[in-house]
Amino acid sequence: MKLIVLSDLHLTTPGEAIIGIAPWARLEQALDHAQAQHPDAARYVLLGDVTHDAPPGSYERLAAQLADLPVPVTMVPGNHDDRAALRAAFPDHPVCAGGFLQSLIDTPTHRLVFLDTLAERPEPRHAGILCPARLDWFARALDGANGRAVVVFMHHPPLAVGFPGMDRIGVANAEDFWALARGRVAHLVLGHIHRTISGAWQGTGFTVLKSITHQSPMKMDSTSSALSVAEPGAYGIVLLRPGGVVVHSDDFTLSDTGPVHSDPRSL
Ligand SMILES: [Fe+2]
Repeated sequence: MKLIVLSDLHLTTPGEAIIGIAPWARLEQALDHAQAQHPDAARYVLLGDVTHDAPPGSYERLAAQLADLPVPVTMVPGNHDDRAALRAAFPDHPVCAGGFLQSLIDTPTHRLVFLDTLAERPEPRHAGILCPARLDWFARALDGANGRAVVVFMHHPPLAVGFPGMDRIGVANAEDFWALARGRVAHLVLGHIHRTISGAWQGTGFTVLKSITHQSPMKMDSTSSALSVAEPGAYGIVLLRPGGVVVHSDDFTLSDTGPVHSDPRSL
């Protein structure tokens, strides 16, 4: 199974750009590119910060834009989203008890777990949280995996990636997540940082995907969480295979910039 993952869309009021990038145009470009390159994708995932502070009508406009996709879309919210507004525009999207955007998808080999880390009154601002109700649902999702490899999709990383400014605003109670997840999750697919990062944490592999719009600069000495750079936009391609999971990142804004060469000296 192949999934296309779009993270940190930051959809603004139409016409409003972020560091010169128009998020709605980027979304259209990403969807056109992904549909052309990956007609075999079984599902699209929007990995939070779907909008930039939920401008009025933005989720409805998104619903209209996604209506032509031939496959289903699963969403989790990010710190810039409004859960109630998102749910109102996507009334058929599954939620768990308490109204959180947490859902499950099972394949014969994998259990995909989508977690909602949006905090209502985060401390510090923009941090994520997994409250007791969400953790309880997660525990039951793990218990029901039945030998399937668990892949968790969530916006905020439950780990420190090495950017001090962003590490302050990950999942505030990450230790509660790991108390459940340790040794039971094959891979995490994450957003929020706006940069491609991979590794393993407490024995679980993880991939942080870039934004489709603006990125974080490679400044590991910065304590700011408000730095952005117009590096290429990307989306993720997740391949679920019987042996595990593979995550690609495609800088779709670059891929039309030159011909593909065939040269026996390469690769
Ligand atoms: Fe973001």
